Amino acid sequence: MTKKRLGVGFIGAGFITRFHLRSWVGVRDADVLGIVSRRRERAEEAAALARELKVGEPKVYDSLSAMVADPAIDAIWICSPNYTRLEVMEEIVDTLERGRGELIGVACEKPLGRNVKEARRMLELAQKGGLLDGYLENQVFAPAVMRGKELIWRRGAPLCGRPYLARAAEEHSGPHEPWFWEGSLQGGGVLNDMMCHSVEEARFMLTPPGKPRETLTPVKLTAYATCLKWQHPHYARLLRERSGGKTDYEQRPAEDFARSLIEYRDEKGDMLVVETTTSWCYVGAGLRLTMELFGPEYSVMVNTLDSSLRVFFSRQVKGEAGEDFIEKQNAETGLMPVIPCEEVEYGYVDENRHMIQSFLAGRRPEENFSDGLNVTELLMAAYMSLEQERTIEFPIPGLDDFVPAVARGEWNPRK
Ligand SMILES: NC(=O)c1ccc[n+]([C@@H]2O[C@H](COP(=O)([O-])OP(=O)(O)OC[C@H]3O[C@@H](n4cnc5c(N)ncnc54)[C@H](O)[C@@H]3O)[C@@H](O)[C@H]2O)c1
Repeated sequence: MTKKRLGVGFIGAGFITRFHLRSWVGVRDADVLGIVSRRRERAEEAAALARELKVGEPKVYDSLSAMVADPAIDAIWICSPNYTRLEVMEEIVDTLERGRGELIGVACEKPLGRNVKEARRMLELAQKGGLLDGYLENQVFAPAVMRGKELIWRRGAPLCGRPYLARAAEEHSGPHEPWFWEGSLQGGGVLNDMMCHSVEEARFMLTPPGKPRETLTPVKLTAYATCLKWQHPHYARLLRERSGGKTDYEQRPAEDFARSLIEYRDEKGDMLVVETTTSWCYVGAGLRLTMELFGPEYSVMVNTLDSSLRVFFSRQVKGEAGEDFIEKQNAETGLMPVIPCEEVEYGYVDENRHMIQSFLAGRRPEENFSDGLNVTELLMAAYMSLEQERTIEFPIPGLDDFVPAVARGEWNPRK
């Protein structure tokens, strides 16, 4: 029987789930009907937000298997921390294999795994469970990125030649929860956490519309990373305090600045270049996403802080610190850029709409676990490059078993 409307269940009730819930007001043909999280009260809060937004009447479950088994749930959005990926996916597939529940698809937040082995296992499990798979890389769905790509490839590329250089950067002042800072839990530092966006968005812009990712072949990659800010005693102490004493950046830092240069060949053998920069030590109004694409006679530029809305508050406005202007906001006074609708601007609305429409049509989403695996391969190649201080050439022997030193708690640029 073909479904006309999907019931969606969320795993995790934190920061990104709240973003997805707010985006859902722009998503048709699906309701948020379930939430499960490690702490029940957080799941109840997220359910209340969903009801307030009128995007569904979610039930809060005591276990993931109970949510999967509920006939109301057709698809799952995995939005729990990186270190839970495999246990969560195994429980979904195990529940289905025991004949409890029927799912059409699963969508998973970035990164798909903390290393290639985990990401590959996620793909295998989705296939084992007979599930359609969506990789939640929102930035390739950002309206400015999609529209920029469409214009370049429709007007510029046919007359003057394809684009050959893509630059992408994601920078902010550091993640909101202690587990992100811990290499073993998150998989790495800013390289793993944010370069996953940049490499995929840049690759997407350089790929002709409608063509598969195989049209671009990675040839070599050079990366650099270090810890610029958060290893200094003052900032290391802040991290220790915020984590109840657990995070130790003097002994066990993760990189807070990372860049990569990737050389690709297209189907004709022409050289293409991707340059990415990511940082957890950027201080500005808030999160800054930039994207640039260059070809022989054209260019595209996106900067999310060039917002259409600016507000000014004089020094007399002494309000509380918040994130009501912009994600990862750093100040409340002066002239501030405000993004009127971050859920739209960062791509969450179009991302979720695409996933839902693909699942309803019984079609694999265009951004799927194979893409997530590919992104992880690029990121692990980047860690290899910085550890070996050399350019890495593809294909890379031993990539599947590679775990970065930062994820093993053995990386320290000051030693
Ligand atoms: N696309 C993006 O730009 C973006 C932005 C932020 C986070 N993310 C990704 O989303 C995921 C979650 O990040 P976040 O910022 O929401 O983290 P968070 O720490 O704010 O929230 C995580 C939630 O998962 C719950 N949880 C923990 N273990 C669980 C388990 N075993 N089962 C069910 N729930 C569990 C926690 O209680 C919490 O509610 C991460 O993988 C992160 O990389 C993506």
